[in-house]
Amino acid sequence: MIRFLKRCARRVLAPLLKNKNFVMRPDGESRKGLVQLIDSLGQDSLTLVEIGSYNGESAEIFLATGKVKRIYCVDPWQMYYDPDDGAAFTDMVKVEADFDRRHASDSRVVKVRGTVDTFVEKYANDSEVSGKIDLVYIDGLHTYEGVHHDIEMTLAHIKPRIAIAGHDYHRDGWPGIVKAIDELLGAPDSTFPDGSWLKKV
Ligand SMILES: C[S@@+](CC[C@H](N)C(=O)[O-])C[C@H]1O[C@@H](n2cnc3c(N)ncnc32)[C@H](O)[C@@H]1O
Repeated sequence: MIRFLKRCARRVLAPLLKNKNFVMRPDGESRKGLVQLIDSLGQDSLTLVEIGSYNGESAEIFLATGKVKRIYCVDPWQMYYDPDDGAAFTDMVKVEADFDRRHASDSRVVKVRGTVDTFVEKYANDSEVSGKIDLVYIDGLHTYEGVHHDIEMTLAHIKPRIAIAGHDYHRDGWPGIVKAIDELLGAPDSTFPDGSWLKKV
């Protein structure tokens, strides 16, 4: 009941709120998890698509492994996309500027402003990209419908060569994410200390 009331309050107040103190990575576990995830693929020269890049920290961790030759970072960088996600209440102008500061001069990073649909529209018929994606990492919308859509689009159009993965496989915190993954892919092959999950394709 309290959870429900909190959710309603957040929905009503969402447009008035900004969370200045939000920290995406409060501990070292998230770094460790993403490094382990890349290591588990057992390959280098990887091409990744990340759905939901925020300020570019996860992309930075992927790149620091030395095993990623290209990463497409997909994000609309717009506030209030989900009343249940703390990141949605941060100043997205600043967040995007932070992303640009981290990655603008890195030729391995391709910034795609939009959603998985934007990525598919842009690259589905590009022979340099199509069929050459190794891993799609999903960390955008955290709702059942959002993750369901991202997985469906990935399977139908991006067709990664090695695996599909993402963040927040937590039954308690994010039941919608777990439901969408289990329904479309079955239980993940691996999970990692930061809550990341991976399913080989
Ligand atoms: C939890 S944050 C991502 C964190 C980032 N992967 C990291 O670990 O540093 C979620 C991001 O998803 C983005 N987002 C929201 N809706 C989206 C959508 N439909 N497609 C892709 N990204 C979306 C938000 O703008 C936000 O930056």
